[in-house]
Amino acid sequence: MPTDQTVKTLIHGEWNVSSSHKTVDIYSPHKNELIGQVPSLSQEELDASIKSTVEAQVAWESKSIQDRGDILKKWADILEERKEDIGHAIMNEVAKKKGSAVSEVTRTADYIRYTVEEAFRLDGDVKRGDGFKGGSPQKIGMVEKAPLGTILAIGPFNYPVNLSASKIAPALMQGNSVIFKPATQGAISGIKMVEALIDAGLPKELITIATGRGSVIGDFLVQHPSVDMITFTGGTGTGRHISELSSMIPVVLELGGKDPAIVLEDADLDKTAKEIVQGAYSYSGQRCTAIKRVLVKDEIADELAGKIQAQVDDLSVGMPEDNATITPLINQKSADDVQNLIDDAKEKGATVVTGDKREDNLLYPTLLDHVTADMNVAWEEPFGPVLPIIRVSDQEEAIRLANESEYGLQASVFSKDTERAISIANRLEVGSVQLNAKTERGPDHFPFLGVKASGLGVQGIQESLLSVVRDKVTIINM
Ligand code: G3P
Repeated sequence: MPTDQTVKTLIHGEWNVSSSHKTVDIYSPHKNELIGQVPSLSQEELDASIKSTVEAQVAWESKSIQDRGDILKKWADILEERKEDIGHAIMNEVAKKKGSAVSEVTRTADYIRYTVEEAFRLDGDVKRGDGFKGGSPQKIGMVEKAPLGTILAIGPFNYPVNLSASKIAPALMQGNSVIFKPATQGAISGIKMVEALIDAGLPKELITIATGRGSVIGDFLVQHPSVDMITFTGGTGTGRHISELSSMIPVVLELGGKDPAIVLEDADLDKTAKEIVQGAYSYSGQRCTAIKRVLVKDEIADELAGKIQAQVDDLSVGMPEDNATITPLINQKSADDVQNLIDDAKEKGATVVTGDKREDNLLYPTLLDHVTADMNVAWEEPFGPVLPIIRVSDQEEAIRLANESEYGLQASVFSKDTERAISIANRLEVGSVQLNAKTERGPDHFPFLGVKASGLGVQGIQESLLSVVRDKVTIINM
């Protein structure tokens, strides 16, 4: 039943609760208390709402791109004005440290502004008709970029505002309407983000916010005949499922990772240790782009492990309100999964350099050394603060282990020999390689992609804008 803690969702052009009065409870991961509820929508009410969202797209597409851009720029301004309030919601809902929660909102505002500017610059093309045998100069092909229609944007819990807006903004800017399915944990923050967009002047019917139980509405949305494209960030299992269910529509998937940091004997180990610790442990390791294994040459492994340990021991552990780097994980199950990986490694002979301490879902930052290929943590993605060190005898072994992973999101290579680092980068089966720096998505206008089990399609601002349009060709016959 809705209560005064129930946050209304946007359906059928209205802020409303479910007509069934069903709700989904949202608990704070760190306070372990109910912080609100969101409506649990039924398939029937979503269906009706999607109909109005599809109809609203026609008028939106016919607006000038300048007019659409004005609304989105205002959205960015309002988000910035509300950064404390929305940041507070993110912090409460996903236990992200306060500073990062607020900067997620400002990063989002910057992302939206760049999206608007970039969309202004994406023009179509004109083709000459006599360039192919049998063609004619009397034919001219006008190639425009037309919106796909209605985009299903499915966001993750770890960046409930940023990774949702980075799907919604390109979709709207290109003249599409949007069905937004927030992660349940993150839905309150996502709704606040869309409130800002409506306050900026977006017609309410243009977005349906599909809150509710994934088991009830997930497959229904993915298979809905009015959905023209799906953009999803989340786990690889769900990504595969979406890719199997969706039929004859484009999908962009940003999934899991097992990003390796390859450290060669000539690396600057102080810098390397600093980058690795930031890359592995920020937001308690709950980032698809986190460094999730270190592949280090044997001869420098002791020294590197010592330097990493010193920095890990300095990480603040505690509550997001206190701006701690390591905070409680999103839920107990997630903490259990990470703990199981640590226990399995210990049983099989890994050394705990530091950490392996737990208070409910708060896991202390853990560094494991002497991890070997028979241990699950060598291959599985922990969404938590544990980093395995795998010692290798030469760079060929590092490349082989890096590529043996089912994932292929990003990798780092640490070496003072740039030519050597580039030659290794060229052989790594990943979307991006960072030379002498931690893995990360930003700057956000760079192409962002994973290969193998890490994803499909490309994000990044220009690429995201192109992912929600198709070519529309009109041929003038003179
Ligand atoms: O986990 C999702 C991914 O987009 C992370 O981004 O900025 O933390 O590297 P970032």
